[in-house]
Amino acid sequence: MTVHFIGAGPGAADLLTLRGRDLIAQSPVCLYAGSLVPQAILAHCPKGARIVNTAPLSLDQIMAEITAAHAQGQDVARLHSGDLSIWSAMAEQLRRLQRLDIPYTMTPGVPAFAAAAAALGVELTLPGVAQSLVLTRTPGRASAMPARETLAGFAATGATLAIHLSIQNLAQVVADLVPHYGAGCPVAVVWRASWPDQRIIRATLATVEDEVAGSMERTALILVGPALAAEGFGESALYAPEYDRRFRPQTAASIYRDSTE
Ligand SMILES: C[S@@+](CC[C@H](N)C(=O)[O-])C[C@H]1O[C@@H](n2cnc3c(N)ncnc32)[C@H](O)[C@@H]1O
Repeated sequence: MTVHFIGAGPGAADLLTLRGRDLIAQSPVCLYAGSLVPQAILAHCPKGARIVNTAPLSLDQIMAEITAAHAQGQDVARLHSGDLSIWSAMAEQLRRLQRLDIPYTMTPGVPAFAAAAAALGVELTLPGVAQSLVLTRTPGRASAMPARETLAGFAATGATLAIHLSIQNLAQVVADLVPHYGAGCPVAVVWRASWPDQRIIRATLATVEDEVAGSMERTALILVGPALAAEGFGESALYAPEYDRRFRPQTAASIYRDSTE
């Protein structure tokens, strides 16, 4: 018996990996985080599977489902939205499984920030503009931030920011970022990226609060940084005609000529 943790992607049912789909199809028990995992993905469960929405359950209750499946020798597909490596509350489940000596696997998924970038049609890292992407959030009711992880601190680098779980803190986000990026810095808010009711607002730090006003839907990602609207960025050296590289040696004397690596 194994618990298969599976990143179920950002919303669109076909943004699920083939491995994730196959593991769901072979597991007689499916536990899914119902607040964000789309129902359509549950169609991959085998006939007669026990399918449980864990949104209203406590960690103890989730573990009770897993240990019951374990006692029966039944594999569990454990679905979390997006990818497992960020804000999935998977680690606390892994810790308990380790203590109970219950085996598990992890299958990554498409994270929301990647779906939002695709919806916007942008690359978040551009030569000479931004070469780092910060995945972060602001404090929430149930989650304080470590003292040194401040928006202002991240903003001081000028990197692209992907701010999760924070649309309700938009005024504070703007106040923290304007001193570093300037009021004209591009911002995009993407609600429910890849879902049929996906919505996008493109604005600047000066205008984003007015643009967003009245939006009640909380599943939103705030993307901030000059890369969102840059035009005069350089081209990648990797594909420049004269760039000498292992896969495209440029001269007879190239150190990459006849390279077998
Ligand atoms: C609990 S976190 C889950 C993140 C997820 N594990 C991931 O890999 O993207 C939920 C937050 O992720 C963002 N999010 C998740 N799905 C989204 C989507 N389809 N569109 C926009 N933002 C999304 C929102 O900021 C939301 O508040």
